Amino acid sequence: MSRLTPIAFEATDLDVMEAAKGRIVIVVAPDGKLDPAARRANRLTKGAVARLVASERFSKAKSGQLISLAWPTGLAAEALDVLVLDRKVTTVEARRAGAALAKSKGDKPLSVMAGGMRKAAELALGIALRDYRFDAYKSAEDDTPDDSAPVTLYHTKADEVSAAAAPLLAVAEGAHMTRDLVNEPANVLTTTEFADRLVDMQELGLKVEVLEEDKLAELGMRTLLSVGQGSASPSKVVVMHWDGGKKGDAPLALVGKGVVFDTGGISLKPAGGMEDMTMDMGGAGVVAGTMRALALRKASANVVGLVGLVENMPSGTATRPGDVIKSMKGTTVEVINTDAEGRLVLCDVMWYAQERFKPAGMIDLATLTGAIIVGLGHENAGVFSNDDAFCGAFLKSAAAEGEGAWRMPMGKAYDDLIKSRIADIKNTGGRPAGSVTAAQFLARFVKDETPWIHLDIAGVASVKAETDFAPKGATGWGVAALNRLVQDKFETSE
Ligand code: BES
Ligand code: MN
Ligand code: ZN
Repeated sequence: MSRLTPIAFEATDLDVMEAAKGRIVIVVAPDGKLDPAARRANRLTKGAVARLVASERFSKAKSGQLISLAWPTGLAAEALDVLVLDRKVTTVEARRAGAALAKSKGDKPLSVMAGGMRKAAELALGIALRDYRFDAYKSAEDDTPDDSAPVTLYHTKADEVSAAAAPLLAVAEGAHMTRDLVNEPANVLTTTEFADRLVDMQELGLKVEVLEEDKLAELGMRTLLSVGQGSASPSKVVVMHWDGGKKGDAPLALVGKGVVFDTGGISLKPAGGMEDMTMDMGGAGVVAGTMRALALRKASANVVGLVGLVENMPSGTATRPGDVIKSMKGTTVEVINTDAEGRLVLCDVMWYAQERFKPAGMIDLATLTGAIIVGLGHENAGVFSNDDAFCGAFLKSAAAEGEGAWRMPMGKAYDDLIKSRIADIKNTGGRPAGSVTAAQFLARFVKDETPWIHLDIAGVASVKAETDFAPKGATGWGVAALNRLVQDKFETSE
């Protein structure tokens, strides 16, 4: 697994600046007033900082921008990075600034002279989130270090910043785990390997159970099993428990779609772009990363994470279009298209989660439909819910974390589109409102008393261009928002 960039928090020490290797960062507000570290840098560089501050380039710079002075005289470092930053910044602005530092850092050590900066812990989170690489399959070049070079953040209140950063870095570590899982190719991340990686999280204090095919058959999870029956990899459901809250308090349930590869099955997908379907376990990846973050920061809440791990393959044993399958709930489903498999996996796991845990709330995450990408692009996940208050709380958490989320409609007219001629429902509703009819399908498996949110993350789980907080590829979208939702709505206060 990729390792988080080590970040050390040290008491301010201007004497390290002259000999520090790698890159040194000083922070200058747009008014150009220099703090002690900037003044020291200015003296060592024989006035380079003052000349920069007097320049047109600086006067045009916006808060958050980084201006690099390469190979500065008087410093051993190979660059002096001047971070232009307002004295008062929002959480997301501080994280963006950190991400900008991480992006320019490369694999060089970084010394950040943060002075008394407020939100320095958020800056650290920005560094940790953005400093991510998935290079497990790149043959090593001679001088490429295995690990990210360390970051030292010098601050007048280093201990306070370090304490504030600890729970935030837990979120970064969770998001990195999600990215690793999503980026991993399907020949490596089989259902068995995925389950093994989740079992490994027991060392963090999570309880992890793996339900194998015989158990799933006994429970009646026939729609889930029908998706995996064409694959050589066995289907599994993994249940992760974090019992940090009061004993007996109903948990929050997180349910993830974990299709380790989606060929479409007998309703085979076209070849172009099919390789992207290694990310079809993105929902399960976010559930895993969130559970990791909660365990690392020892959240005082009860949360269960359940993932359905299957592979959707065409074969002589695969489910056919036209097959009728009875779900664990008892609802019969006519399979119109074997490529609408995610809902078949989720409906059994969601039903099981409610029967077993009677959760206080349930959130499912899935790379469920291409239609949500048509509707919302890569900026927002689609949010569907049966409960305005629960949904509102999630949207607020997502906004606070800078993770795009947009509520979509549901209703009877959409539900009518999944009526089947021969079974209770069918697994597709045709092209119109494809993401909504998928959500309506899931809603059939939500009990009246369960506040529920469905997150369609097909557009945000993995992207072709870098985002504010992640390089190209898997983003880890959702770990921060779900972590915050748990913190704000599910943690016990004592
Ligand atoms: N895994 C796909 C959805 C998807 C598409 C995720 C693109 C990420 C990027 C899902 O299983 C699927 O194939 N959905 C079909 C549903 C259709 C057959 C009703 C789709 O969206 O085309
Ligand atoms: Mn599919
Ligand atoms: Zn799929």
